[in-house]
Amino acid sequence: HTYRIAAIPADGVGPEVLASARAVLDALAADSHGAFAFDWEEFPWGCGHFERTGRMMDEDGLERLREFDAICFGAVGWPTVPDHVSLWGLRLRICQSFDQWANVRPVRFLPGVRSPLRAADAHALDWVVVRENSEGEYAGLGGRNFAGRGPGGEVAVQSALFTERGCERVMRFAFELARTRSRRKVSSVTKSNAQQYGMVLWDEVFARVAADYPDVETESVLVDAMSAKFVLRPWELSVVVASNLNADILSDLGSALAGSLGLAPSANLNPERRFPSMFEPVHGSAPDIAGRGWANPIGAVGSAAMMLEHLGLPAEAARVERAIAAVTAAGVLTRDLGGTAGTAEVTRALVDSLGG
Ligand code: NAI
Ligand code: MG
Repeated sequence: HTYRIAAIPADGVGPEVLASARAVLDALAADSHGAFAFDWEEFPWGCGHFERTGRMMDEDGLERLREFDAICFGAVGWPTVPDHVSLWGLRLRICQSFDQWANVRPVRFLPGVRSPLRAADAHALDWVVVRENSEGEYAGLGGRNFAGRGPGGEVAVQSALFTERGCERVMRFAFELARTRSRRKVSSVTKSNAQQYGMVLWDEVFARVAADYPDVETESVLVDAMSAKFVLRPWELSVVVASNLNADILSDLGSALAGSLGLAPSANLNPERRFPSMFEPVHGSAPDIAGRGWANPIGAVGSAAMMLEHLGLPAEAARVERAIAAVTAAGVLTRDLGGTAGTAEVTRALVDSLGG
């Protein structure tokens, strides 16, 4: 079978880490003796494209992407374009247009990686943050420049949108995921003491959905308390379901606890499979290290493993996971992990470890 994959490297370290993911995927395909292959098409969208054309992606971009089996994304954002323009013009546009409502972000211990947690706690890191990816605080509702206010009097409104259906589907997704894990637990995160409409709806839907999963342990935790819990009691967590903004913040904290933002993979899933899903590292374009060959490719390669799983190649996904653990255990580490290896060296080590 040939899988058609759209590659969108975009900005900064995006192209560097996506090249690494492609190298690993192509090595797997070459080793499959014709069982499967990847047919790549690369789309040169991002901030450079914006400077040339005034658009982050081509006008017919979504139509063209629709035909692919999956999308591999690098990272978007560069100092020459305002971040809200670049993010909304490309990544959020794709996520929302293709109804990729579940953003799955595993946080895992990797051997040989130093975590800021106590060693015993770091070994217990095995969570999945499930981020509501279609509404919430990133619904894009609000406005600026309210008329009739004098200098210094501008007002901006940024509203969050919560729908019963949107909450319910991501929660059911989280519960189904919890059933596949050794620790069957879902932690729901809100700030429903302060945000009395949307987050209270979230809590109510969570209680109702939880009743359908009596075999899964549950808890509801406020986001401020959850950020402390991430650090102090990491062994108590398994699946964490949260709104768009809260999960975004918590997953950067989670990946930092695992050792680096550069390690964290993610999948933006359209679980109904009406549209292609998109796989990307959690981190951004890292302008501070872009172009030096230093970027950690493990987040992007882990995202490729999630894509393999989604495409129905779980054994191949497991091979990639094992290769990642073998490479970190062997101490082939990029600078963000305290090592000296470059992106290319880690990529070579990953490809060499695929057999093991
Ligand atoms: P960032 O994730 O790009 O960088 C934060 C820190 O982590 C930096 O010190 C960076 O060097 C380091 N880092 C990130 N990825 C790394 C990797 N693979 N290897 C080694 N170190 C790594 O976040 P920041 O600086 O807030 O944002 C930079 C740009 O990225 C902005 O334009 C922002 O809007 C965009 N962004 C894009 C995202 C996406 O495309 N999904 C997600 C987050 C931010
Ligand atoms: Mg983020």
